[in-house]
Amino acid sequence: MTPGDKETLMHGKTVLVTGSTGGIGKETARALAARGARVILVGRDRARADAAARELASGTTAVTADLSTLAGLRALAAEVRARHDRLDVLVNNLGGMTAPRTLTADGVETTFAANVLAPYTLTCLLLPLLRAAPAARVVNLTGGIPGGPLDPANLQGEKRYLGWTFSQYNHAKTAVMAMSRRFAAVDGVSVNVAYPGHAYTPGNRATTAAAFPYAYRPVVPVVRLLGPRLLNDFAKAARSSVHLASSPEMEGVTGVYVDAKAKRAPWPASVLDERACDAVWDLCARLGGVAP
Ligand SMILES: NC(=O)c1ccc[n+]([C@@H]2O[C@H](COP(=O)([O-])OP(=O)(O)OC[C@H]3O[C@@H](n4cnc5c(N)ncnc54)[C@H](OP(=O)(O)O)[C@@H]3O)[C@@H](O)[C@H]2O)c1
Repeated sequence: MTPGDKETLMHGKTVLVTGSTGGIGKETARALAARGARVILVGRDRARADAAARELASGTTAVTADLSTLAGLRALAAEVRARHDRLDVLVNNLGGMTAPRTLTADGVETTFAANVLAPYTLTCLLLPLLRAAPAARVVNLTGGIPGGPLDPANLQGEKRYLGWTFSQYNHAKTAVMAMSRRFAAVDGVSVNVAYPGHAYTPGNRATTAAAFPYAYRPVVPVVRLLGPRLLNDFAKAARSSVHLASSPEMEGVTGVYVDAKAKRAPWPASVLDERACDAVWDLCARLGGVAP
């Protein structure tokens, strides 16, 4: 592919990236806009959203919505449906961790809501627009530490919230992979998962030591000190999402997981547990009140 081909790879395509007024999402949006896509940015803050849209290529627009609530997800989907008749790519980039355990306005555990329920619900609500595109792609984001086996009775951290590697964040990122495997079998859309690697983003800066599993807490001050120097390449962290969203070799490919170098990687064993996948899928359908 020549540099010229790269600039036009996404011409005529409409792309929505959640959590894209800052952090990895903004760099994902920037790279897709640079490939010619019409990008819709999403964040909560109007001023930040408008500033990000101005900074990226012309043709970029910004919508504000709080995606931690079902009302926010529905409002976003309604606005996108009102303005667009098709969506070629949906990057469910929004994610993050919360500690101690809290519930959203809908009564859903906050980390599960952001990392699993939001991508499930938004994809369902936008499915008619995705199916109107010739080869629609959905990209969901995972984290780097396998969360261990999924316990269907603890998906919202009801029994145990933080532990060794089994923090609610790592668990939720395993659950989003399980949900994505199920969604990959739905007709009319390709669904894949990207692991971005690490970047010292606004989300990372705002994370308290209490949100980390006990074993990692002693290194949190070191991460705070070195993070801005060592983990400031957000564009590198956007690479795997950009690959899944735009690479010609991914057209029609569904149900795969790529690592931080955008290379295909095997699903963790816990994600291949069909009973756990069903439990995550059923919980999302019940909480979100929608199905594909
Ligand atoms: N950073 C890492 O090292 C790392 C490592 C592994 C995986 N990941 C995953 O990669 C993805 C991106 O991570 P990141 O660190 O770039 O995230 P981040 O810094 O938390 O992302 C910030 C973006 O999310 C938006 N946002 C936050 N809460 C929102 C809400 N409730 N509703 C709507 N928008 C909201 C912010 O908008 P506002 O303008 O409203 O603030 C901003 O655009 C996540 O899924 C994360 O779990 C990240």
